[in-house]
Amino acid sequence: MKEAQPAAIHLKDYQVPPFLIDKTELTFDLDESVTIVTSRLHMRRNPASKKANAPLVLDGGEDVRLVAVAIDDYQLPPAEYRLDDNQLIITATPDLFVLTCETLIEPQNNTRLEGLYRSSSMFCTQCEAEGFRHITYYLDRPDVMSVFTTKIIADANVYPTMLANGNQVDEGETEEGKRFLVWHDPFPKPAYLFALVAGNLNKIEDTFTTMSGKNVALEIFTESHNIDKVDYAMDSLKRSMKWDEEVYGREYDLDIFMVVAVDDFNMGAMENKGLNIFNSSCLLATPETTTDDGFLRVEAVVAHEYFHNWSGNRVTCRDWFQLSLKEGFTVFRDQMFSSDMNSPTVKRVEDVSFLRTAQFAEDAGPMAHPVRPASFIEISNFYTLTIYEKGAEIVRMIHTLLGEDAFRKGSDLYFERHDGQAVTCDDFIRAMEDASGVDLKQFSRWYSQAGTPVLSVAFEYNEAETSLTLTVKQMTPATPGQPTKLALHMPIRMGLIGKDGQELTTQHQGVAAKEHVLHLNQLSQTFEFKGVSQAAVPSLLRGFSAPVKLNIDLDAQELLLLLSSDTDGFNRWCAAQQLAVNELSVLIEQAKNGETLNIESHLVEGFASILKDENLDPAMVALILTLPSASYLAELADSIDPKAIAKARKFLKEQIANQLKAELVTCYERNKMSDAYLPNAEQMAKRQLKNVVLGYWSVTHDTAVAKVISEQCLTSDNMTDEFAALSIAVNSEHSEADKLLAGFYDKWSNESLVVNKWLMLSASQEGSDALAKIKTLMEHPAFDLKNPNKVRSLLGGLTQNVPCFHHQDGSGYAFLADLIIELDKRNPQLASRLCTPLSRWRKMEASLSALMKAELERVQAQDLSKDVYEVISKSLA
Ligand code: TRP
Ligand code: ZN
Repeated sequence: MKEAQPAAIHLKDYQVPPFLIDKTELTFDLDESVTIVTSRLHMRRNPASKKANAPLVLDGGEDVRLVAVAIDDYQLPPAEYRLDDNQLIITATPDLFVLTCETLIEPQNNTRLEGLYRSSSMFCTQCEAEGFRHITYYLDRPDVMSVFTTKIIADANVYPTMLANGNQVDEGETEEGKRFLVWHDPFPKPAYLFALVAGNLNKIEDTFTTMSGKNVALEIFTESHNIDKVDYAMDSLKRSMKWDEEVYGREYDLDIFMVVAVDDFNMGAMENKGLNIFNSSCLLATPETTTDDGFLRVEAVVAHEYFHNWSGNRVTCRDWFQLSLKEGFTVFRDQMFSSDMNSPTVKRVEDVSFLRTAQFAEDAGPMAHPVRPASFIEISNFYTLTIYEKGAEIVRMIHTLLGEDAFRKGSDLYFERHDGQAVTCDDFIRAMEDASGVDLKQFSRWYSQAGTPVLSVAFEYNEAETSLTLTVKQMTPATPGQPTKLALHMPIRMGLIGKDGQELTTQHQGVAAKEHVLHLNQLSQTFEFKGVSQAAVPSLLRGFSAPVKLNIDLDAQELLLLLSSDTDGFNRWCAAQQLAVNELSVLIEQAKNGETLNIESHLVEGFASILKDENLDPAMVALILTLPSASYLAELADSIDPKAIAKARKFLKEQIANQLKAELVTCYERNKMSDAYLPNAEQMAKRQLKNVVLGYWSVTHDTAVAKVISEQCLTSDNMTDEFAALSIAVNSEHSEADKLLAGFYDKWSNESLVVNKWLMLSASQEGSDALAKIKTLMEHPAFDLKNPNKVRSLLGGLTQNVPCFHHQDGSGYAFLADLIIELDKRNPQLASRLCTPLSRWRKMEASLSALMKAELERVQAQDLSKDVYEVISKSLA
């Protein structure tokens, strides 16, 4: 029999903490075998708590060994406290006291990568969400905010760098000849923002002068072999600091801001106060080793973590149900920053593509949850696309509804009113309402209602009255635990494109304009436009003004009109995608039914004119030419047949490529560059376009292309072009694919992050022996089961490898399930995330669905972590 199943925690049960911790004094005696952690917690009963006699209950993981506990220096005998599985309970305490705990931990055996652990040669921490309890006993909840002082003791020869939050205030030598350093952070914070790093690190230094003239020291630390790869991160940091001052009026508050890169990390990065810790994949960047996407990611993640200093740290979350308060807002902030630094249309298209594939799929699956969940079993499972990306869309809609100026007033009020507090999503909404006078009551349903709304739109033109009526119906499908849904309030930014290609000025509610923002707030609603001088096609949801699915019946000619004439770049891209989706749907059906694929593609016509137009922005052309991804098509399907999707995409790609070969070749040549590599929008656009057309060209019967691909792969001076060519070689039937892949490894075997790309690509290579090859890859010296980046690379490759992963004998799914079971024992957070592809079994076509379900059941029969248990049990429920 398995043990009792883990229980859910509910938002409705929230209570203020019975105790507060005004000051936290920590001492770490770091050691390779046992690390001693001593804490002095200055505690008092919380006057706001109704539980006047509540016992003191501290959180602590089973990996924390208690040596001694004292109240006001009185050592408690065992009879005066109790140790439960994950708690230290003291029944009798004074109202005001100092609690001292001495605990032992073994960071070198910490494979969960939560709490204090080792990554290569260093000690580092990860405390969000509930990692601090793996360091020592504490009130490990975000509404307990404390001023931290941290003393680090270590062997100075091995760990010359010792860092913690705040400013360094003391340093010296212990009696045993070890070195110690003391750090003090004057800003009260929850334990999840605590950080410590010790190692033999190099750093680059810079300074930033804030808007009030304060000088801030900026330091980025890496192991010595990577120190040449952080200049771009430093530059991104300075631009982020400036942007947050200009756009939000937010100034940095400590004298020093430090960033550290570590190789073993469960997520992207962490916003610890004054000491951000990054997965090296989100910090290191050089032209030779990093693609354009990689540069953009570094810039965005550096900004994201920096922006948390206000949206997250100065104002934090009351409880973990409010996670999107900091994450949704901060993602919105980093999206707008990236948009300002690069091409806004490209940025929006990328964010929306991601949302529509991955977040929409989550919203339609067994783990669907509101942006403010009502319950969870394991909070780590709720660092989701819904909390982050949909949460950011909610903030974006507020921005649209209020307008730029009122939104800024709202954010100023929010930061001013709640500085130093732990608050809720409702507090955020209230600040926005109070500052703007806009009623967001109905709007706030976005926080509590899960699922992706579907808008069905019909329109009718009345020539005699020169008017147009738009009827919009909204419907949100049921999600687990939420069978019925209410009407949501959302902004629909739109315009009308006349059949002659002109954008029309029309009147809506007495306002004459080319663009209107409609307020949809009912299940069914009609909007009237007057002065519509000709028949027109609506361009709806410009810039994706609400995170919904849009159903509007437009034929190919109407979509081509929007594609060529819409004034909104985002919607031009949308039109091209819709056209492609329509054609691919026909092809997917044919493939499913075993028919020969056959379509007369209108896309070719649209692409032809776009490829010929030399005045178009190459970024726009690249976006439009990119076919919808297999995962987006899967999200749209009722019953997913991955092989049919792959076949349809391949067919359409070949059709387009063969009919437009001449134009593609010209476009490739036109976008080649001899300038030195720069990670700027203009160059990125050209590289993107060049590589998209090379992808098409590669599937034609042109014998010249193989040489072009090899040459680009072998002679490029930057990773973007080199890796694009290599990927194309591996994914087409290029005769030299294996040789190129092997050469790539030899060239880059010393660059761990590049090797990860090689792992991913190798695992994605199709072939009858693909799974055997992947198993061999796991034995390769470049692979390491302990490193999350390596595991994700390999499995990312596998899940893209359609014939291998979705093999009808179930071997691909079994392989993944085996790995989940194995990894769950060492790193539950990582294992839990790997369950996603299998958790979507209900949407797969029948035979694959049954195979996936069987594997989930096999996993469920194991002794599981809370993390994996929650995902598996919800998937099978
Ligand atoms: N708060 C971090 C961010 O979004 C992410 C984060 C949450 C995290 N939990 C984590 C990072 C665990 C690493 C490990 O910026
Ligand atoms: Zn974040």
